[in-house]
Amino acid sequence: MIASPRPDALLSPELPTPGRVVFIGAGPGVADLITLRGARALASADVVLFDALADPALRDLAPHAEWIDVGKRGFVHGTAQQRINALLVQHAQAGARVARLKGGDPSVFGRLEEELEALAEHGISFEVVPGVTAALAAAAQTARPLTRRGLGRSVALATAMTHNQALDVGRRGQPRADTEVFYMAGQQLQALSEQLRAAGWPEEAPVLAVSRAGWPDARHSQHTVATLGQASTEHAGRPTVVTVGIGATPVRQGTAAIAGHQSPTPVQS
Ligand SMILES: C[S@@+](CC[C@H](N)C(=O)[O-])C[C@H]1O[C@@H](n2cnc3c(N)ncnc32)[C@H](O)[C@@H]1O
Repeated sequence: MIASPRPDALLSPELPTPGRVVFIGAGPGVADLITLRGARALASADVVLFDALADPALRDLAPHAEWIDVGKRGFVHGTAQQRINALLVQHAQAGARVARLKGGDPSVFGRLEEELEALAEHGISFEVVPGVTAALAAAAQTARPLTRRGLGRSVALATAMTHNQALDVGRRGQPRADTEVFYMAGQQLQALSEQLRAAGWPEEAPVLAVSRAGWPDARHSQHTVATLGQASTEHAGRPTVVTVGIGATPVRQGTAAIAGHQSPTPVQS
């Protein structure tokens, strides 16, 4: 059970108003990774449209709201998205305070643009409350900073998955950034390994796979571009991000111990 958020000045002054939609990033894992602003907006909602990744414990924040599962698993993608758009519009036009709860951050691989366009078509106002995206949760979980002073100056959030579920990293010949974090490739790690090489990553470049970052049963494993395929069994059936480049390397031995970091699972190589 999560304690109700306090009506505190630190929290957002914005309450969801009737006929308005608030997009809320739920964060990647357990319910307490939602922001205070997101928790408050959720607590004020009449209707919550949520995806499959959301922690069921978040329901405790809005026990009186109508919760509607719009997770896309098992649906044809286009149809599911149109249904979600229609539900958002329908409930907002009926005067409800609508919360659209999305895993991680709504702006990262969340199809937020399509839902915003649907609202704009009908003149419905909205707010977007950010959340902790999976790439950041994975970095925190494994104490591997995504940027490194003097070594890692750029980070790219990428997906290798095309809209028709094919894997395509592209044959660029050089990496996009010092660190690239790939979403939605967990089921095709061997293929990702091959495509990373074609995209310009050296075979020995460090790679980190993290699944269910932010959850108590999070797992991570350490690889190179050449050996990434070995991670398939470890992370099968679990939401996984793959970090490639300098941000995938562990910090110098001893630093994590000084900071009191606890490794969630033994690191494999
Ligand atoms: C449709 S994308 C949504 C991303 C989400 N909006 C975010 O900001 O994290 C789903 C992908 O996010 C990644 N993901 C989501 N939650 C995760 C978690 N807890 N641990 C690792 N990867 C996660 C996986 O790559 C998964 O296939």
